Amino acid sequence: MIGLRRGLVRGARISALGVYVPERVLTNDEISQFLDTSDEWIMTRTGIRERRIARVDQAASDLAEVAATRCLESVGFDPEALDLVIVTTISPDHIMPATASIVADKIGATRAGAFDVQAGCTGFVYGLAIATAFVSANIYQNVLVLGAEVLSKMLDWEDRSTCVLFGDGAGAVLVQPTDNGSIFSFDLGNDGSGAPSLLVPAGGSRQPASFETVRTHEHTMHMTGSEVFKFATRTVVGSCQKVLDDAELTVEDVDLFVPHQANIRIIETAARRLGFSEGQVFANLDRYGNTSCASIPICLHEASQNGRLKKGDTLLMAGFGAGLTWGSCLTKWEL
Ligand code: ACO
Repeated sequence: MIGLRRGLVRGARISALGVYVPERVLTNDEISQFLDTSDEWIMTRTGIRERRIARVDQAASDLAEVAATRCLESVGFDPEALDLVIVTTISPDHIMPATASIVADKIGATRAGAFDVQAGCTGFVYGLAIATAFVSANIYQNVLVLGAEVLSKMLDWEDRSTCVLFGDGAGAVLVQPTDNGSIFSFDLGNDGSGAPSLLVPAGGSRQPASFETVRTHEHTMHMTGSEVFKFATRTVVGSCQKVLDDAELTVEDVDLFVPHQANIRIIETAARRLGFSEGQVFANLDRYGNTSCASIPICLHEASQNGRLKKGDTLLMAGFGAGLTWGSCLTKWEL
């Protein structure tokens, strides 16, 4: 477990935000036309009613490009002034090169270093921690962190237990120095013994692509849902409690709790165990499904647009996912 604590060399803050979701909406009712499922089952078990689906010609970097451009344009920031581009994703354009390299080129971040972070759906929180560390250590001034996913291309559309859960989208944040030290604390965790619970079995060096792996759908996401469910509720609660303790704050001090959007029952269980009231918790997975690394920035954008997240608010973000990984971040919202 890694912990970045208060007392950093200097503070870091999120200074701009942009998102993009594909236009195509796929509803539960449409899925029910080609799979043995129903809107009622999916809504009751997950809280998801619809999700966005990328076009055939759109990969993760294409969604990321739009989110990044919107983020930087919102504050008139020149992409050439970026020091680092970090893409967090579980649906990269390719196994190599990094999607971040492609995104940096697309947006004109010609001076920036670029790399991907693979930490399952916790990727965005991990990326934010890395950006904060670079900025706080005075190594870089301007770091762009993206969560970008085209999960619809990683799914077995004949497997009703996984394909109904996920959606496509991208979000970007700019991380820059501040005198206020507005990112208070992080908690990053991992338990690799849970790797088999959530993985794409083939296409890597363990099980290279073959006719057989394609025939048996081993290039799509496989998940033991009930195990991930139990792991998620347990780790989110512990991790959130840890960052609150580190910052010497309590649940009452948090204005908005933005958890990774995987399942409304996970969100409600974790929020209840932590002692949050309904008004403190943000969820929009009914319209986007689980967009993995993009889910938290998509929530932040919507929450700030509709007034749920205001300048000066104390924000708690929490992720969990493949690895199995988890992570939390407590910050003051400064947009
Ligand atoms: N429609 C209808 N029936 C279904 C569907 C479906 N879409 N999917 C599964 N079922 C059936 C199963 O076949 C099973 O039937 P059976 O009892 O006849 O065998 C029954 O419903 C119950 O299945 P369970 O898996 O026990 O259902 P559960 O209540 O656990 O819900 C779910 C499944 C929604 C996947 C849940 O376990 C879950 O949300 N787990 C966590 C998933 C998660 O968070 N994933 C992502 C985290 S990390 C990341 O973001 C990459």
